[in-house]
Amino acid sequence: MATRSPDLSPRNPDWWRQAVVYQVYPRSFADADGDGVGDLRGVTGRLDHLATLGVDALWLSPFYPSELADGGYDIADHRDVDPRLGTLEDFGALVAEAHRLGLKVVVDIVPNHTSHLHPWFQEALRSGPGSAARDRYVFRPGTGEHGELPPTDWQSVFGGSAWRRTADGDWYLHLFAPEQPDLNWANDEVRADFRTTLRFWSDRGVDGFRVDVAHGLAKDLAEPLRNTGDIGATGEESLPRVAPGGHPYWDRDEVHAIYRDWRTVLDGYSPPRTAVAEAWVPGARRVRYARPDELGQAFNFEYLEAAWDAGDLRELITVSLSGARDAGASATWVLSNHDVVRHASRLLLPPGTDAEAWLLSGGRTPALDTAAGLRRARAATLLMLALPGSAYLYQGEELGLPEVADLPAEALRDPVWEQTGRTRKGRDGCRVPLPWTATGPSYGFGPGPAWLPQPPSFASYAVETQTGADGSTLELYRTALRLRRKLLEGETLTWSAGSGADVLDFTRTPGWRCVTNLGEVPVPLPPGEVLLASGPCDGSGVLPPDTTVWLA
Ligand code: GLC
Repeated sequence: MATRSPDLSPRNPDWWRQAVVYQVYPRSFADADGDGVGDLRGVTGRLDHLATLGVDALWLSPFYPSELADGGYDIADHRDVDPRLGTLEDFGALVAEAHRLGLKVVVDIVPNHTSHLHPWFQEALRSGPGSAARDRYVFRPGTGEHGELPPTDWQSVFGGSAWRRTADGDWYLHLFAPEQPDLNWANDEVRADFRTTLRFWSDRGVDGFRVDVAHGLAKDLAEPLRNTGDIGATGEESLPRVAPGGHPYWDRDEVHAIYRDWRTVLDGYSPPRTAVAEAWVPGARRVRYARPDELGQAFNFEYLEAAWDAGDLRELITVSLSGARDAGASATWVLSNHDVVRHASRLLLPPGTDAEAWLLSGGRTPALDTAAGLRRARAATLLMLALPGSAYLYQGEELGLPEVADLPAEALRDPVWEQTGRTRKGRDGCRVPLPWTATGPSYGFGPGPAWLPQPPSFASYAVETQTGADGSTLELYRTALRLRRKLLEGETLTWSAGSGADVLDFTRTPGWRCVTNLGEVPVPLPPGEVLLASGPCDGSGVLPPDTTVWLA
């Protein structure tokens, strides 16, 4: 069979359409200098893992100077490397080695806010109300008799008011942590500066960008600012309650002009630099970010949030594919990232379970059967990798890592924990450093202990433990990615008659059929050579529950 791996050569402007992209959360990937925090040299030293795995690209979460008020998404300089993670030279070496191995490099860009330590924000604080320096951010006088109340009722995504008062009485907006002041995208200097940042990294060989909070940049700053009280909620969950484009700060129509502008910058490179939007907005609106004259792709978070239900998934897959096609984009699929409960645990939570409450119980209520979670996760992965479009993997999912739900309170670093008055534990449980070896102070993550404690069970998930081990999750991913490259063709699928209440059954090409049993009892296995199965499929003619099979 001819190898049809996506053409990653510099000549192919469409390399990303069906690429598998592996997300590296640098602080938790590999620690070369032994300070307990992952770094760029650690990533470079482990790039062979990605090449062997068979992914096409890596996406690096922020590695920029940051005091880590929000895990690196609070950036003090968008065009440098955090000294704890390395230098610009180390970054150059990483890109060179990735390219040598045939891997593309995508970096995070965080345009909605800076760190409060960014020179611009420090200048704004010094310059006082009404200054040009303050206009780069969203400063407003307070309300109430003495300005002692916030300008509006807007709430931070991390909890509490989205406004903080400064020493001179003015308030500034922070949709996330108070250490992350929101930029004012109506300001020309802000727009120009991000064009410079896009060029800065593109000139250093970066192949694409992941755009953080892509749906938040444009705000309705018409005076007086509107309260969200009548909408009833202020997070993205409030979006379906307003007319499209009508929210004061999420998913406003003006945001698209920014990405059309960016596209002209990205298209100035050969091949054009790619971009993917992180936009937590309903599907029909989300694909607007992926239009060819904008970013090209947008993460399909509805897929990530979907229940393990054949009917729901079939509907979602069909709508996602047609939505992407109509927008002129390619579909994307994602099951895990650094913001959500790892899917080896999440997919087992009974529908309707509040993941926050589950984490707060230390993962005790309900108690999950990790073997069953892994079985389902493996089935979900083979299903995802058979879908047309591109797939985003999160570091550690190739090891089948579950969420570390019982991190002790004193270990937690996510600002969500304190900002919600310790009622939401936050996202540290999916950010625990990776196990590379079965032994060692941090299971091979680095020479000493890691910045978040790893449970003893990590030994059995280590790369070393799983390499070459029959039936291991790591070997399943490696085989699946190798096969996928061979089988890939076209960007469509055809549902087979076998699809039903508990079964998803489709054909990609005449030689590639994917069948998943999402039900509780075995179903008949369709005829055909078994190319790969996510669990035991021993030729007895049945497909067990929570199992996906690829058939020739
Ligand atoms: C995005 C990131 C998340 C971060 C937030 C604020 O949602 O994925 O980790 O906390 O933006 O930058």
